[in-house]
Amino acid sequence: MMQDQIDQYTAEINAFSPANADELETFRIKFLGTKGIIKDLFEQFKTVSSEEKRTFGKVLNQFKQLAEAKHQDLQESFKSEVENSKSEIDLTLPGDNFQVGSRHPLSLVRNEIIDIFKRLGFTVAEGPEIEDDWHNFSALNFPEEHPARDMQDTFFIKKNNGKDDIALRTHTSSVQVRMMENGKPPFRAIMPGRVYRNEAISARAHCFFHQVEGLYIDENVSFADLKQTLYHFVQELYGEGTKVRFRPSYFPFTEPSAEMDVSCTICKGSGCNMCKYSGWVEILGCGMVDPNVLENCGIDSKVYTGFAFGMGMERIANLKYVIRDLRLFSENDERFLKQFQTEII
Ligand code: DAH
Repeated sequence: MMQDQIDQYTAEINAFSPANADELETFRIKFLGTKGIIKDLFEQFKTVSSEEKRTFGKVLNQFKQLAEAKHQDLQESFKSEVENSKSEIDLTLPGDNFQVGSRHPLSLVRNEIIDIFKRLGFTVAEGPEIEDDWHNFSALNFPEEHPARDMQDTFFIKKNNGKDDIALRTHTSSVQVRMMENGKPPFRAIMPGRVYRNEAISARAHCFFHQVEGLYIDENVSFADLKQTLYHFVQELYGEGTKVRFRPSYFPFTEPSAEMDVSCTICKGSGCNMCKYSGWVEILGCGMVDPNVLENCGIDSKVYTGFAFGMGMERIANLKYVIRDLRLFSENDERFLKQFQTEII
């Protein structure tokens, strides 16, 4: 009778395969608990005859050991499972190493230019890349049908009354106009942005590039202020001791107009490929804002004067990083971009 029971339980224990720790606990309570089957069998054992005690004592002890061993084995396998799952979310482990990108050289240069002018009290403004003739040309004193318009090969998009009107802006000077039209002097701002020209793409020309425009309008602003501001800018950007020189030039929107050269940042003026052995590199156009432009934008040119300047960011970046092919700036080649690894904050 007892033997039958034990055989049946033995089969049950051998076949037991819990799916989780809860099922194992139910097993423990059923067989090994204080009111469990084994306890019960030992109670029954007290009542068997003394001849049977010898054989059953052994059988019963083996059965108890079987139940205990099974429980312990299973408990260990569950324990290691719990530990393994814990280690998957061990927050003390070092994090995965992942690659952060780098800033584009034009972004580096733009941010540096902005920083320098911000310290001089300039704000930053932006305007649309799709412009009308007024903001890109007419308000800036480009006469109709004047060859000055050919200085900049324009991508026209739309005609108005049979005339080319809407275009991709050819320079950021259009943002000056918007700023003066929409506000009241004084103005002290720089205007970075992308500009477009109808040019064949090569190492030295591209159909789009980037400029930073500058505008300073107030009472009594003179050419001396222009020179001092740009001189300071160059010292900050390329380092103390960088020389500047101004050459007379022509732009419809400034009078007088000038181009500014800096002593070559690569050879320090002794002559190299970059400066074509002249020791100087042109970096920007500038001048006193033409009174016609002020009046076109609703500003009294008898009260206010000011200066403006515009520079190409690719040129500025070239002089810092010696990038010989303009196309590199827009190809997004990782081998190029990776060379500008910087802390990204
Ligand atoms: N807009 C000119 C260009 O695209 C650059 C320029 C020259 C801007 C003189 C100015 C300036 O504001 O005063 O080449």
